[in-house]
Amino acid sequence: MTDNEHEIEQPDERVPKRVIGTPAPGTSMLGTAESAEADQDVPGVTLQDPAKARKAEKIVALCFTITFLAAIAFIISYVYFQVGSPEATGTSNLALGSTLTIAILGLAVGIVIWVRQIMPKYSLIQERHTMASEEADRDVVADTFLRGANESGFVKHKLLRRTLLLAAAPLGLVPLVLLRDLDNNRMPGARFNDQLRHTVWGEKTKEGKPLRLVVEGTGQPIRAADFNSPGGILSVVPEGYEHDLNALAKATLILIKFRPEEIKGGTRLNWTHDGIVAYSKICTHVGCPAALYEQNTHHILCPCHQSTFDAADGAKVIFGPAARPLPQLPISVDAEGFLIAQGDFEVPVGPSYWERGDAEAAAREKGGQA
Ligand code: FES
Repeated sequence: MTDNEHEIEQPDERVPKRVIGTPAPGTSMLGTAESAEADQDVPGVTLQDPAKARKAEKIVALCFTITFLAAIAFIISYVYFQVGSPEATGTSNLALGSTLTIAILGLAVGIVIWVRQIMPKYSLIQERHTMASEEADRDVVADTFLRGANESGFVKHKLLRRTLLLAAAPLGLVPLVLLRDLDNNRMPGARFNDQLRHTVWGEKTKEGKPLRLVVEGTGQPIRAADFNSPGGILSVVPEGYEHDLNALAKATLILIKFRPEEIKGGTRLNWTHDGIVAYSKICTHVGCPAALYEQNTHHILCPCHQSTFDAADGAKVIFGPAARPLPQLPISVDAEGFLIAQGDFEVPVGPSYWERGDAEAAAREKGGQA
């Protein structure tokens, strides 16, 4: 046995291995002015032409400034353009989409140019190593990361740093601005989620009368006496809101005519008129319009995920992922025989949300006492 066979590597003599994405120990990762000369001699390092880098810096600053301006324009557009009618909603969508696209594009292009034309480039080599890195290797990574952060140019290039921060500030506000709609229409005294709980069916006309049910598309009010064919179905909206997309998104109904003997216990009879029943058209799964109706079985089918509701039995779920019935709207007729809403739905329409349970429990209790 020779002396060499007994030699054991001492920890303090060990040279850390190269780690992926890092230069060799002792070399600079991203060239600073001080390190540029030293980097000339490092194999694999490609330094940027200083003149080109200066030009690129101005272009990047311009991109970040464009991002800043476009993000401000997005916020102004969101507040300024009202939605509701198809035309107004289209204009708002165009303004929001184009300003946000320009903002994100400006940021992306700026960062790409920064990385490609300002930061120096390295050829890096990674040696395979065991799963867990040695303590010394981890120190090298941490040290390299800190040096990289210092040398990335974020500290050195003041113009880039300032314009990047300028661009990021309003862009970061964009998601917060979009949450503004959770503010209950900004009604004084309104509770959180009131906006989700109610539809316009609870409102009155200018003359203080209940809203009439009108045929979707034609706006024709419906006389109960004219809707007299059992098995018939109509898609219905509130009079005066035929073109208000926000209102229609929650208030659209399906109206079904039954023979009185067909109606089962799940349907609230005092909310029907002469065998005519009104249910929300908004599927309680994720909100598709559920309006495929099978006359023989009285099944309402939602085409999105096949939830099926029994229209004769309170629109209870008999198949599919929906978790609760389509809400029933209380209806009656006015003095002229036109169908009107007795009031709003007692439970929220559409997909479930976090406070729906409270509303439904309250409605069940109220229904049980009636
Ligand atoms: S939205 Fe109706 S079943 Fe999914």
